[in-house]
Amino acid sequence: MTKIAVLVGSLRKESVNRKFAGALEKLAAGRMEFVYAELADLPHYNEDLWDNVPEAVTALKATIEAADAVLIVIPEYNRTYPGVIKDAIDWATRPWGKNSWAGKPVAITGTSPGVIGTAVAQHHLRTTMVTVGTAVMGQPELYYAYKPEHFGEDGAITDENTKTYLEGWVNSFADWIATTGK
Ligand code: FNR
Repeated sequence: MTKIAVLVGSLRKESVNRKFAGALEKLAAGRMEFVYAELADLPHYNEDLWDNVPEAVTALKATIEAADAVLIVIPEYNRTYPGVIKDAIDWATRPWGKNSWAGKPVAITGTSPGVIGTAVAQHHLRTTMVTVGTAVMGQPELYYAYKPEHFGEDGAITDENTKTYLEGWVNSFADWIATTGK
């Protein structure tokens, strides 16, 4: 089973991005195990905190390092990705020489009620993830304009066209991990 560390860029309970990640998890069931990184208690990056490392930082780095690949699911905040994701990225690159991201296959997606479905935010994040040394899947892109009617009661995608597209995307991610993973 391929282990996927999942970072969701929204902390709110009713997050559509959390729901979207859950739907992808159902489509990947049997092939991928999703392990959700806990980001709610992550402090802003502060070099001084390495003297007494916050548990949330240690846990985040361990979750990424134990995974075969990382999936990042983001809302778009003011045409970029949320600050909690930037803090997670920065913490996991340090301490110097212990970059938890190095060489990890990464896929980026996200959803918003708006028609461009986080496209601009994803492009910003893509640039950052290349910089920190991950192998970012370039294609296919997945910008999902959130539609509540696409989901069933259990959180699974019920809209057939959407389901087919998302299954194809999950397959591509699996291929990407097989090609680039260590
Ligand atoms: C937003 N939203 C938003 N949507 C979008 O498509 N492009 C954007 O630039 C923004 N900007 C933005 C800024 C801030 C501070 C907030 C709180 C929201 C709306 C956003 O897509 C919507 O609130 C989603 O529901 C957020 O995702 P979660 O929290 O439901 O996963």
